[in-house]
Amino acid sequence: MKQPVFEAVLAARLSRRTVLAGTAATVGLAAYARIPTARDGVPADNTFKSIDPQTNDAFVLAEGYRSNCIARWGDSLVTGTRDFDTRLMADSKWLDAAAPAAQERRFGTNCDAIQYFGLRKGRAGRGLLCVNHEYLTGDLMWPGHGGANMKYADRKAWMEKHPHAVAFMQAAHGVSVMEIQRDSTGWARDAGGTLNRRITARTPMEISGPARGHALMRTKADPEGVRVLGTFANCAAGKTPWGTYLTSEENIDDYFAGGADFRDPGKDPQLADAYRRFSLRKNSFYGWDHQDPRFNVTHEPKEPLRFGWMVEIDPHDPKSVPRKRTALGRFQHEGANTIVSKSGHIAAYMGDDDKFEYVYKFVTRDRFDPKNLAANRDLLDHGTLYAGRFDADGNGEWLPLVHDEKGPLNSRAGFANQGDVVIKARAAADLLGATPMDRPEDVEPSPITGRIYVACTKTEDRGHPEGTTVWEGRTVDVAPNAANPRADNSSGHIIEIAESGDDATATRFSWNVFLLAGDPRTGTYITDARELAAANLKGTDTYFAGYAKRADVSVIHCPDNLGIDPQGRLWIVTDTDLHNRPNNGCFVVPTSGPQRGLLKQLASGPAGCEICGCEFTPDGRTLFLSIQHPGEGGSLDKPISHWPDGNGLPARASVVAVEREDGKPV
Ligand code: FEO
Ligand code: CA
Ligand code: CA
Repeated sequence: MKQPVFEAVLAARLSRRTVLAGTAATVGLAAYARIPTARDGVPADNTFKSIDPQTNDAFVLAEGYRSNCIARWGDSLVTGTRDFDTRLMADSKWLDAAAPAAQERRFGTNCDAIQYFGLRKGRAGRGLLCVNHEYLTGDLMWPGHGGANMKYADRKAWMEKHPHAVAFMQAAHGVSVMEIQRDSTGWARDAGGTLNRRITARTPMEISGPARGHALMRTKADPEGVRVLGTFANCAAGKTPWGTYLTSEENIDDYFAGGADFRDPGKDPQLADAYRRFSLRKNSFYGWDHQDPRFNVTHEPKEPLRFGWMVEIDPHDPKSVPRKRTALGRFQHEGANTIVSKSGHIAAYMGDDDKFEYVYKFVTRDRFDPKNLAANRDLLDHGTLYAGRFDADGNGEWLPLVHDEKGPLNSRAGFANQGDVVIKARAAADLLGATPMDRPEDVEPSPITGRIYVACTKTEDRGHPEGTTVWEGRTVDVAPNAANPRADNSSGHIIEIAESGDDATATRFSWNVFLLAGDPRTGTYITDARELAAANLKGTDTYFAGYAKRADVSVIHCPDNLGIDPQGRLWIVTDTDLHNRPNNGCFVVPTSGPQRGLLKQLASGPAGCEICGCEFTPDGRTLFLSIQHPGEGGSLDKPISHWPDGNGLPARASVVAVEREDGKPV
């Protein structure tokens, strides 16, 4: 009988909380020990039989499920343009002067986030998918290409031989908006869809919010600092209640060259300060600087500051100009997931995906107007950006990143206005004492329960014996903390947050560990939440929200994107980045009821891929997944994957739709 002790611990903890007092009073302490949800009792069981971890080159689903491929890199989005023929990839001749324009009419490379929008007009079974194209894997595309690790001289020589490469790559990045329709075999692309659109690394966009017109946003091409060409490194995403798509700009630093000098504050102190916490390198990963001078900061020193934002796109208007919503801060944005608060304000939850970076929330100043969607157009330009501090007692605070001459975010500290604060959001969050996390990726609020889930994908340096590390321009304490409790965290974890009063606008919250990912059959399988506070948790220790039956839960490493299905279950897709582990997969876990913590694997991706997405149709019958970079770890010359086309053809990233064979919700 552990309850008396546990309840005493909880009672002490609860007495310090205002947060869950209401909920706890109604459900009782014993229930609280399982962190009941605001609307607990929603039936959300996992009934399928888990698949085992896989290592083969196949997309594998649990029994009773089927999938079909909706779009592969190169598939046409425009009537009259043919799908790209991957048989051409035996050499690089196809990368000719016509290749960039053709790519602008086709589905891009390395699909990442997916969001589904039901179409208000037209027949049932018709919708829009917005899909991110995060990056391009050169060694999976061209024979003899050395990928991101190519030496400078080799890349220069390759670029000289392929003068259209950068224009092509820029056309392959960004976002696809595509209409899809259902027929008897499942969802399919509609190349004739009038809303189909490609947004690329060259599409004109507006800069809006506090950084619009800021001195740090002005370039030779845009002396007013209000207009920018394109978006790239688009990782995870979200959508707004008024039907727009929110795409993130994540690893934008990989695209610029000439940045090493910014570490020398003697050269330009203002730029050194702006780049201190989001640094650039001497050479780029992708070589765009070889053919487009705006990607060399010795030519255009502020261009990179115009990336690293959340971008809002109206997919229902193909002529609309995307807007960079700078009020949401500049960092390595994984995505932004929104929820409407009780008061009608919008909260957007965001992760900054780098080790020892922060979790953010943005709350709009104004209320959402569900009756007049156009009135919400610029809602994301005004509001408060917060960074999260996770305290050891299970409480936490959202710290407002607001310019204030009384301090701490004032001119003396380098923040003369709110534009400075959002451009240097990481530095502002440092000053306020936000908690450095183990690579926060998706941060997903449940519309069913209001609970928020934070995927921390991994950070092996956590608990490094040195005690501190210098990372991205500041010294960080790398000791495990309550919200990042494992040393050598190579498998990642998930934190569960409850906002104070279940109000998404709250500045206080409580939190607990929901998952310590890993192999439940190695290391210690923890079922008692009190043991999570131990100072000596190892990277191999696992915890599945207290679920007791170790043999029933699946192996999972490195949670990346999250989703919530209409039944309230939490979906997790993974990106282990490590090729000595099983293939990445798609998992689902109930967050309430007796199955809370019973995590099962539904799908496994082909060799070398990561899986992104976990987006649902509103009826829950279709799950959309992106299979990103199949074949990574191999190359076009030495392939490890031929998915999805088989027949010895090159692998290519694709979106799949997963359904149950009996047609019931997934
Ligand atoms: Fe592009 Fe954080 O994954
Ligand atoms: Ca991701
Ligand atoms: Ca990732």
